[in-house]
Amino acid sequence: LREHEEFTKVKNIATIELGRYEIETWYFSPFPPEYNDCVKLYFCEFCLNFMKHKEQLQRHMRKCDLKHPPGDEIYRSGTLSMFEIDGKKNKVYGQNLCYLAKLFLDHKTLYYDVDLFLFYVLCECDDRGCHMVGYFSKEKHSEESYNLACILTLPPYQRKGYGKFLIAFSVDATAYELSKKEGKVGTPERPLSDLGLLSYRGYWTRVLLDILKKHKGNISIKELSDMTAIKAEDILSTLQSLELIQYRKGQHVICADPKVLDRHLKAAGRGGLDVDVSKLIWTPYK
Ligand code: ACO
Ligand code: ZN
Repeated sequence: LREHEEFTKVKNIATIELGRYEIETWYFSPFPPEYNDCVKLYFCEFCLNFMKHKEQLQRHMRKCDLKHPPGDEIYRSGTLSMFEIDGKKNKVYGQNLCYLAKLFLDHKTLYYDVDLFLFYVLCECDDRGCHMVGYFSKEKHSEESYNLACILTLPPYQRKGYGKFLIAFSVDATAYELSKKEGKVGTPERPLSDLGLLSYRGYWTRVLLDILKKHKGNISIKELSDMTAIKAEDILSTLQSLELIQYRKGQHVICADPKVLDRHLKAAGRGGLDVDVSKLIWTPYK
């Protein structure tokens, strides 16, 4: 997905059916022209093919043999699983996912070349299958060191900590994958939506406060960046928003007063779901 003016277009699809949910959409998504007259679309929750009529979906569900996203299961912890889908190997799935995601993403437009992306789809699994709760996409080779292109938690699953989990996963996976290449840090593609910025701010705040709380003595932004794989600019802006930075003799200095840290830690609330790196079952994409 890429920045564009598509968001000025009028919303066409008002609701979608996906698994056991009927979901109201938020924004325009450029479905192929034959769907122009539709106000509701029916999605297969596993292969993400979409249809105009409920009967079509019912027929499809009888013959669709997927019970989880295509691609490799790369993480499993309890009932949560993450699947990695190569846009080149699963082009139609990648495109369907983009159409679906755009319904909830403003200021982004479909980037048709799904070949260049990996998609990480997070699922809650039960005996009926693995049900998508959200995803993030990532360029296979990002010149700007973006570790995430687009992120979405489907509305019925929002505010449960999945967004923070997806962010943590993208950062931890980058750190894990690139741990041998020195100085590699990542950042999300811009622009961020309001909800995207809130979620990232929340994640960065939590990670940085936890380190500052434990750390004794001085620490620099560069050191924090090396420890967390978070880009220095993102660390600086987060610490500035927390008023933990002073500008002295032309330099940004971290002033981590324990009382201020405790106040922020209290306000930061629950940490959300943690990524258990030992549960990664994965060979990183080369
Ligand atoms: N109102 C106020 N704060 C919110 C809201 C909201 N509706 N939603 C999230 N937040 C903030 C909160 O601080 C929250 O932490 P808290 O619940 O501990 O207070 C924090 O964001 C993260 O909450 P999560 O439950 O971890 O995140 P969620 O699963 O809801 O997903 C996401 C966040 C992915 C941004 C979701 O809102 C979404 O999919 N939005 C639509 C798509 C979008 O805007 N994506 C980001 C675009 S930018 C990009 O892709 C690079
Ligand atoms: Zn299907």
